[in-house]
Formats: sequence, C-alpha cells, structure tokens
Amino acid sequence: MADLVQSAGAYAQAAAAAVGCYAATFQAYASSNPYAFSALVVAAVLGAMSIGTLIVPWLITFVTYWPQDLKRKYNAQWAIVTGGSSGIGLSLCRKLAEQGLNIVVAAVPDDLLRKAGEELRAAFPHIQVRVVGVNLAASNHNDYLEPIAEATADIPVQVVFSNAGYVVTGFFGYTPLAKWIANLHCNETASIAIAHLFVSRMLKAGLRGCIVFTSSPANIIPSPFSTLYGATKSAITHFASSLACEVKGEGIDVSVLHPSPVATRFYNDAHKLPTLQMFKSTAIGPDAVAETAIRGVGRNVIIDQGYYPITFKLLMRIIEFTLMVDIMARISTSVKDYQFLKQETLKAAAAAEQAAKAPAAVADDVGSAAPASATKRRRNSSATGKRA
Ligand SMILES: NC(=O)c1ccc[n+]([C@@H]2O[C@H](COP(=O)([O-])OP(=O)(O)OC[C@H]3O[C@@H](n4cnc5c(N)ncnc54)[C@H](OP(=O)(O)O)[C@@H]3O)[C@@H](O)[C@H]2O)c1
Repeated sequence: MADLVQSAGAYAQAAAAAVGCYAATFQAYASSNPYAFSALVVAAVLGAMSIGTLIVPWLITFVTYWPQDLKRKYNAQWAIVTGGSSGIGLSLCRKLAEQGLNIVVAAVPDDLLRKAGEELRAAFPHIQVRVVGVNLAASNHNDYLEPIAEATADIPVQVVFSNAGYVVTGFFGYTPLAKWIANLHCNETASIAIAHLFVSRMLKAGLRGCIVFTSSPANIIPSPFSTLYGATKSAITHFASSLACEVKGEGIDVSVLHPSPVATRFYNDAHKLPTLQMFKSTAIGPDAVAETAIRGVGRNVIIDQGYYPITFKLLMRIIEFTLMVDIMARISTSVKDYQFLKQETLKAAAAAEQAAKAPAAVADDVGSAAPASATKRRRNSSATGKRA
C-alpha cells in the first residue's frame, strides 16, 4: 500500500512537472509570438465550439429522451404513416396504435399493405385502421394526394409520419431516367405534397400536431452510385428544417429523422454494393428507430438516431465538404463500390444483348444493371410513375 502511495505521488509529481513545463513553453511562445498564439487560442476555441455544439445536444438527447404519448401531447385522434406497410413505417404504426391513436396506413397497394392493415386491426381491436393504396412515385401528385385526402376527409389527422422511401442504386447514366425521377417523387415530392395537405388542414382547423419526415444520414455526405438518394434526403432535411421554423408558433412540431442502418426490406432491391453491405451488417431493428422518432417529436427538429449521423457530421467538421468531394471524385474509380458496379453493368449489358438476339425476350431496363431481385421497384420506373 505504501509502495502504491509512493508511486502515485511520483506520478503526480511528474505530471505537475510536465504541466509546468508546457505552461512555461506556452508562456514563452505567447510572449515571443503574440499574434500566432492568439490565432492558436482562437482556433482552439472555435474547434471546441464546433465539436461541442455537435456532441453536447446529442448527449443531452441521449440521456433525456424519455417516452412520450403523442395522442396525449397533441390531444389527437388520428395518425397517418406513409410507407406503413413494412420496416420503420410498420413499427411506427404499431407504436402509435399502442398509444391509442387511430391509424391511416398509406403505401403501395400490395399484399404487404393488406397484411399490415389486417395485423394492426387484429392486434389493436380498440382502434380504427384505414388503409390507402397509393403509388407515391407517381409523377402527378394528384394521383396519390386525392386518394389520401379523400380517405382522411372526415377525420382530424394531427400526427403525420411521412416515411415512405427507397434507394435506387446504379450508375446514373446507365440507369433509365424514369427510375431516378420516380425515386425523386417518392422520396421528395410526395413528402412535400402530403405535408402541405395536413399542415394546411391543421392551420385551418387551429389544431396542434406534428409532421415527421424520415430522411437519412445520406443527406450529409455525397452518395455516389445512388445519386438521387442523398440528394432527395438532403432536400427533405432542409425542407423540414425550414418548415419547422415556420409552423412551430402555430403549434405544429416538425421533425426529421436520420436513422442509422435499419434491418428492413430497404436493402432488398439494391445492388450488393460493399458499402451498403457494410451498412446492412450494422443495422438494428426498426422498433428501436421508431421509438427514437416518437421520443424526439417536438423535442428536436433533427432527430439523429444511432452513430451514423453523428459520425458523418463529425467527419464534415474535420474535412470541409469542398475538399471531401474533390478527394472522393478523384479516388472514386478505385473504390470497391465502383468496381463492383462496373462488373454488374457489364454483365447486365451482355445479358441485354443476348436477350435482344432472342425474339421472345423482353428486355426492360436495358443497361440499368438492376439487380435480379429488383422487380418490385421496377414498377416505380414507368414514365408516369404508375404501378405496372
Ligand atoms: N433501412 C435503412 O437502413 C434506412 C436508413 C435511413 C433511412 N431510411 C429511410 O427509412 C424510410 C423507410 O424505409 P425502411 O427502411 O422501413 O424500408 P422498407 O421496409 O422498404 O419500407 C419502405 C416503405 O415505403 C413504401 N414505399 C416504397 N415505395 C413506395 C411508393 N412508390 N409508393 C408508396 N409507398 C412506397 C414501402 O411499400 P412497399 O414495401 O409495398 O414497396 C414500405 O412501406 C425510407 O424513407 C428510407 O429511405 C432507411
């Protein structure tokens, strides 16, 4: 014990000597180079502020996100969840139903939507469930907005989760334009149109409520090989941030969720790009993400879930965007994703050529290098955006 105290004392003495030595060096440096020293101090303060304003709110969020009941918070009866037929959306539906909210589920009119409606009705017999089959990738927003407006004309919807979305992967120039435009409409245009419908209704009726968008950490850094994804998510994060400032005073809370990878059907139709596979390997279940979203409503405009958004934001604090994009553009052809996609594109082109030679073959998506399993999303690629 005495030895321990003695060596602790020795360490303390050495540490004090080192601190004294550094202080003396700083003092000498400060008096010999006052301008350089001031610049160093300013840089240190700015650095600390930059990192602190990133980490402190995240830490506060981390420890203060206690559960909240949105039905009670807004004195609400009805919620709508787009993309509520699977993944994060279905988890949101279940959690909102647990709070006693009646639910409108809007998604592609398919078996998943029918099953989601049946599951919610069976699990929560005390609430009402309405199901609206719509293609949010339609190029004319009235194609989905009118059915949604009609299905909700007689009910006050005060809790809105605009969550539907998907990723299209592939080289931009080798993938049909209609696929990109459909992705743009589903991820971005539809969110704007749906927000407009319910915000204007709430304002007109003087109701309080919330609108929550599902964006992605992909909005923070460039997303080559899925060019529209990051672009649409950036637009949604920016749109939500602006809208939040405009309607908060009217009693409407706007939030935008940035989920880290989630184990859902999201990855099913994407190319097996090494980066996406890495994201997928770290994915967590959708229930935890839905829970974070609900806890964040009205507390934060931007709800960063998990480690990805904070890591990307930290990275952007360290490397300025302008420089990062230059570096990424220069090294892009040597990254694994590029090489993988190039191989896939060549394979798809060869298959398309083969199919063109065979008279009975029908080659839709020629040269798009779409993964074989991408039949589902292909229905979003028609020029009209309507389902096949
Ligand atoms: N999973 C992730 O790692 C991750 C990470 C960050 C952000 N996100 C975002 O989270 C949101 C939900 O995705 P998820 O992970 O839960 O994937 P998901 O399981 O594929 O759910 C997507 C939902 O959107 C619906 N949807 C897709 N295209 C549609 C269309 N054209 N019209 C109407 N509904 C459509 C889907 O319906 P169908 O299934 O019937 O097509 C489904 O209900 C998306 O906005 C996604 O961008 C996901």
